[in-house]
Amino acid sequence: MDQTLDESKVDLKEAKVKRRMWKPHERLANAFKGTSQWDQAKLGNIDVLRLSVLPVGAPVIPDSFSVISNPEWKEVSKPSLPFGFAWQQSVPGRFDFYFELQKELRCLALGERFSGLNVRGEKHTLISTDNPHHDESMDSMYKPIPFLVVGRQDKFFGIFIDSSAPARFDLDTELTEEGRIELFTRRGFRVFILGGGTLPQLVEAFTTLVGRAKLPPLWSLGHQQCRWSYPDEETVRELAHEFRQRKIPCDTLVLDIDYMDEYRVFTTSKKNFPDLGRMVSELKKDNFKVVTIVDPGVKEDDQYKTFIEGRDKNHFCKNKEGEVFIGKVWPGDSAFPDFLKSQTRKWWADAHKFYTDNGIAGIWNDMNEPAFFGITKVLPPDFSEMPAEEEQFCLHEAQDGEVPHLEVRNLYGFLMSRSTHEGLTSIRPNERPFVLTRSAAAGIQRYAAVWLGDNKSWYEHLGKSIPMLLNVGLSGIPFAGVDIGGFWDDALPELVIRWYEVGIFYPFFRNHCSLSGRGQEAYAYAPSVEGIARKLIETRYRLLPYIRGLFWEHTKTGAPLMRPLMWHYPTDEFACDIDDQFMFGSDILVAPIVERAHEFRTVYFPKGTWYHFETNEKYEGGRPYVIKMPLGTIPAFVREGAIIPLADVMQHTGEYSDKTITFKVYGDKAAGVYFEEDGISWEYEKGGYNEYALTYAGGKFAAKKVHGDFTSNQKFAYVTAGGGKPTPVEL
Ligand code: GLC
Repeated sequence: MDQTLDESKVDLKEAKVKRRMWKPHERLANAFKGTSQWDQAKLGNIDVLRLSVLPVGAPVIPDSFSVISNPEWKEVSKPSLPFGFAWQQSVPGRFDFYFELQKELRCLALGERFSGLNVRGEKHTLISTDNPHHDESMDSMYKPIPFLVVGRQDKFFGIFIDSSAPARFDLDTELTEEGRIELFTRRGFRVFILGGGTLPQLVEAFTTLVGRAKLPPLWSLGHQQCRWSYPDEETVRELAHEFRQRKIPCDTLVLDIDYMDEYRVFTTSKKNFPDLGRMVSELKKDNFKVVTIVDPGVKEDDQYKTFIEGRDKNHFCKNKEGEVFIGKVWPGDSAFPDFLKSQTRKWWADAHKFYTDNGIAGIWNDMNEPAFFGITKVLPPDFSEMPAEEEQFCLHEAQDGEVPHLEVRNLYGFLMSRSTHEGLTSIRPNERPFVLTRSAAAGIQRYAAVWLGDNKSWYEHLGKSIPMLLNVGLSGIPFAGVDIGGFWDDALPELVIRWYEVGIFYPFFRNHCSLSGRGQEAYAYAPSVEGIARKLIETRYRLLPYIRGLFWEHTKTGAPLMRPLMWHYPTDEFACDIDDQFMFGSDILVAPIVERAHEFRTVYFPKGTWYHFETNEKYEGGRPYVIKMPLGTIPAFVREGAIIPLADVMQHTGEYSDKTITFKVYGDKAAGVYFEEDGISWEYEKGGYNEYALTYAGGKFAAKKVHGDFTSNQKFAYVTAGGGKPTPVEL
């Protein structure tokens, strides 16, 4: 069909005129026709105001797929709105929101942005987009999450636009101390204003509203290895052999698009993967899990079961003539399931039996913005209202009838992953599923982990991964990472090592690269480099008890694993500005080198005493230090007063329960928690877990059971950072 959103077809002369006319600080007259209502409620101790808007012509406020909590709402006629918040419908297809943005306030979250931690002073267009050019001119990315956090020190507010339509946030680019949000929609929507409260309280309230992640299966927290693509069975077996023989820990091998028969999802290539099930079961003996990619594009092919079924049962998005909408992706001309429909989600979910029958452990959802080849800008430049229906690729079926694509595009990847998650859960009801997705909307953490798409083997992208992941975390998503080593371009050994130094602290820990360029597996380099990579990956496995404790914390409070320093040190103004360091939980400060040929970096320590993770050297905080970090250094420092549970080195998480967990005590007086469960089933939700409060004082270590319904044979010991041999302990 005619994709009129192609940039080349936009009238540039007209676009320029519009650009000159646009005065962001100018407010238009309120022309709203429809109904609106303010309600208030409490989420924990956070006040929430909710605005519901239903313009004339929109039959209902559409289903919210993001919001899952429904506190007791009370209507208010004259709400007291923070920041002089005001709104209007400016043109039929656009709503504007204004708020004061005093210059000392920081702006955070908004999902995935190619930005520093403070996203202020920029425009952010939130529309789900596959744009592989991650550079300074980057705007829309894969995960548009319209949740903005504004504040400083201990007072933050959140604004969440509960709408799947595109939005543009202008966070005071004109330096007039005004923020403006434009929501491009012709449908109803809701806005939530949360606060004030501390940053952790705000994220807790937001994740109460949109949900939290469940505990991931333990294996998914181990090392994952991927490439586009390991082309055949032999290569995959060889990969497994190399990891085990070289004793580089690894849990998961990931198959990219070439395992399929010409990119037909729910099939395998007879030539290259003649018996996927057998290969997977043999790899299982060596304790490897296999994850496969599944894209939404279904090849248009009259001989192909998934296409025939989807077409005949009305599961695909339609064009305006009512025919199956066809777009181009890896398989060529393809149809796109309409995940807005529950019957379609069920159909797609059930189809995953194909993968589970082959023993596949988890599913990787990609290209689900959805991506259409050649389209890196989904909206016309300088658009000022929701484009007309005929410019919107295709139609979906919503609860209130047909809806044009752009109104619901931001939900596409989210609903695809929801369907995948539901499929895996219903097929294997006793196992926690692992789903990874590229595109996401608010609340995605309920269904999937995320990675930040097609980065490059550039130091700049290594550095950017920190603030980007911090904002993703503040947007509610704890299980996130980026391609370690970088996706495009050649990764030289130094970069890969520096990347692993940071990557062992990414909640999602996967090395992945594209088909062009050299391999970047930990063993693809000289033996000395491999040795360093091995040590770093081993450290990831040693940290697993601490990491699963952090995920447990997330389920209770919504806290991300990677946190900006301001999360724990909100009154330390210097710490609040830092985004090349981060807190990994409350006890570990990570300050990596993210530049080529550097051996020293400045590390800022907030007040307190800090211990180098490897050497135990002490630093008195409240000031920066210049620290030498040769290649292979674990760039982490532990807070005095912490007790960190560390596992013995293992080759894969199948060995976890045989390993001793050593509680490392930092300082004369310390406290910590230890959490354990079976790592795979849902038993922890029914109380099948152990939680211990650990203390150390007067030279004595003690573990008090706070909760205990899980039988474990794990062995334990403790050791002090001062040195000495570990002392075995019973819990
Ligand atoms: C997309 C994904 C990338 C994947 C490739 C081929 O570019 O972002 O991770 O390897 O498609 O499937």
